Formats: sequence, C-alpha cells, structure tokens
Amino acid sequence: MSGVRRSRIAGCGSYLPARCLTNAELAKKVDTSDEWIVARTGIRERHIAADGEFTSDLATKAAQEALADGEMAIEDVDLIVLATATPDQTFPATAAQVQKKLGMHHGAAFDVQAVCTGFVYALSVADNFVKAGQADCALVIGAETFSRILDWEDRGTCVLFGDGAGAVILRAGEGDGTNKDRGVLSTHIHSDGRYHDMLYVDGGPSTTGLAGHLRMEGREVFKHAVINLAEAVDEALEENNVTPEEIDWFVPHQANKRIIDAMARKLSLDESRVVNTIDRHANTSAASIPLALAEAAGDGRIKAGDLVLIEAMGGGFTWGSGLIRW
Ligand code: UT7
Repeated sequence: MSGVRRSRIAGCGSYLPARCLTNAELAKKVDTSDEWIVARTGIRERHIAADGEFTSDLATKAAQEALADGEMAIEDVDLIVLATATPDQTFPATAAQVQKKLGMHHGAAFDVQAVCTGFVYALSVADNFVKAGQADCALVIGAETFSRILDWEDRGTCVLFGDGAGAVILRAGEGDGTNKDRGVLSTHIHSDGRYHDMLYVDGGPSTTGLAGHLRMEGREVFKHAVINLAEAVDEALEENNVTPEEIDWFVPHQANKRIIDAMARKLSLDESRVVNTIDRHANTSAASIPLALAEAAGDGRIKAGDLVLIEAMGGGFTWGSGLIRW
C-alpha cells in the first residue's frame, strides 16, 4: 500500500432497548416535571435496558447492524474496541463478551474507559491501530447501561441518562494525506483528573466493592464542557486546515441541548447541520455519538465524502474531538 494509511468508515449500526421511559413517567417517581427536563436539557424520553439485558447485548446488536450495513462478515474484523463505563462485570472486558457473542475467535478485543468521551477515545485508539498497520478492520463500539448506576432518587441526575449502543467499522484504506481523504482525519483526546469530584461514581471494585451511583455537579460540568469542547473543536479544525463552513455534519455528544446549541452557535452552524438525538435518547454516555452517526447515516443525511465533526466531554474530566471524511 502506498500513500497514507487511513481508517475509512465501512459501516455503522445502533441498538436501543425496547423500553422507553418518558419524562411524565419519571415525574411520578421524583420531584420533577416534563417542562423542567425539556427546558433545561432538551430530553423528552430515554430507553432503559430490560432485566437480564447487559451492555454486551446492546453492543452486540449494534455491531451486528454495523456489519450488515457494511456488508461485512465478522471474519473481516481483527480488532474490537469498546467504550463503556458500565461493563457487564469488573472483568473480563465487555469487548471480549461481545467478541464471543459475535462468534469471533481471532484478533483482539478490549474496553476503553473515558465515560462520555469514550467513543472519541475508542475511535482514536482504533484509528491509530489501523494507521500503524496493527489492525486492518476495527469495530469501534460505544455501549452503556447507565440506568444501572443511577440514583433513581436523585432528580438532578436520574432524568439525564439513558441506555443504548452504537458501532462503526473502520477499515484500512489509502489516502494522499490531505483533508480530502476519506476516513478519520484526526482525533484529539484530553483528560484532567483534578476534576474527579465534579462527575464520578461513588463506588468501584477497589474502593467499596460495589458498582456505586453516579454523582454530578451539573452546573460546574456544564461550564467546563463549553470551554473544553470549544478548544477541542478548534484543534480539529486547525489540524486539518478546515473552516466551520466546510463542516457538513456536527455530531456532538448528547448531554444537553443547551451545550449542543452553544457549540453550534460558536461554529455558526445552522441547526439543519447538527445531528440531535437527545430528545429521544437522553445522554447515553459513550453510546451517544455512534447512535447519532448511525441514525444520520442510516436516514441518508450523512453521505460519502461528507465532513463530520464529533466532540465529547465526560467524567475524569475527559474531552476530545474527531474529524471524519465519511
Ligand atoms: O455527559 C457528561 C457531561 N455532562 C454534562 O455535560 C451535564 C452538564 N450539566 C447540565 O447539563 C446541567 O447543569 C443540568 C441539566 C444537569 C442541570 O441544569 P442547570 O440549568 O445547570 O440546573 P441547576 O443544576 O443549576 O439547577 C437549577 C434548579 C435547582 O433548584 P434551585 O437550587 O434553583 O432551587 C435544582 O435543584 O433546578 C433544580 N433541579 C430540578 N428541578 C426539577 C435540578 N434537577 C431538577 C429536576 N427537576 N430534575
């Protein structure tokens, strides 16, 4: 292969659990209202995994849809990178269970943990494996069952999250090293552990021996999100010599409609170029971006050759961006 090795998007898929939980139903359990949730977040409903339905089940269904979309067989895949903060078990990696459920007995499968930035991290890792020649075809999955780590009595957090999974397939291709190449053009990932207390889970195998519950200083996270995401987006544009006008689709992490709107405004992007799923999915953490990508590619909005900007921010803090020529 001559030229520059690039990871091309070869397919994508998603899965949402059947059970849909509306704001009105939540308002019967905690002191909240549909009006408050919609006005402050843009969320109207979220999906909740059934008893006995695990993160690996959601991930497997999204991966199967991605394989079908790419008209590929599992034998073609040699790497699975799965982003999740809600693994089936402490170990083994949920990715290894997905590998088993897909009937794949070769290659490597591992998890990446960057909470809501998980998909950007997983994409970055897989892209670098492909670019380095250590993988030819990678399944990159974001899958979560956040409903299992929510404190269902804390109205400040339980109304915000949902369960789901999304997957993309990266396949080695060739480019000439310009921003016209098809594939992942760049990823930028960051973390700063000093902000642990603003968004964390109050448990874990080494601390309490229990899974724990999500805790968040929402207002503080919001403030940092707007600043960090703007910086990560600027990095993506500068690295690739791209102006905001050239972006065809902005596919941000879906945490809050107000954060998404603020970022779109900063980029002067019309709402028609922003992919929004938050109203129906809520915040599905690492799954939100691949869910949104699968929806917009599936309904024909994102087309071959389109320039797609992704960004996310989450616990850690972690944050990052990616620019993809579809
Ligand atoms: O994906 C990972 C990254 N996460 C994020 O990016 C989340 C970032 N943060 C946010 O999206 C927003 O901060 C929230 C949606 C979490 C909260 O919105 P806010 O506008 O920052 O509200 P707030 O936390 O400042 O709370 C305003 C008021 C408070 O009442 P007082 O103190 O003003 O009387 C809250 O107690 O709203 C109250 N409140 C609620 N009221 C009804 C908080 N949660 C609820 C609720 N229903 N569910």
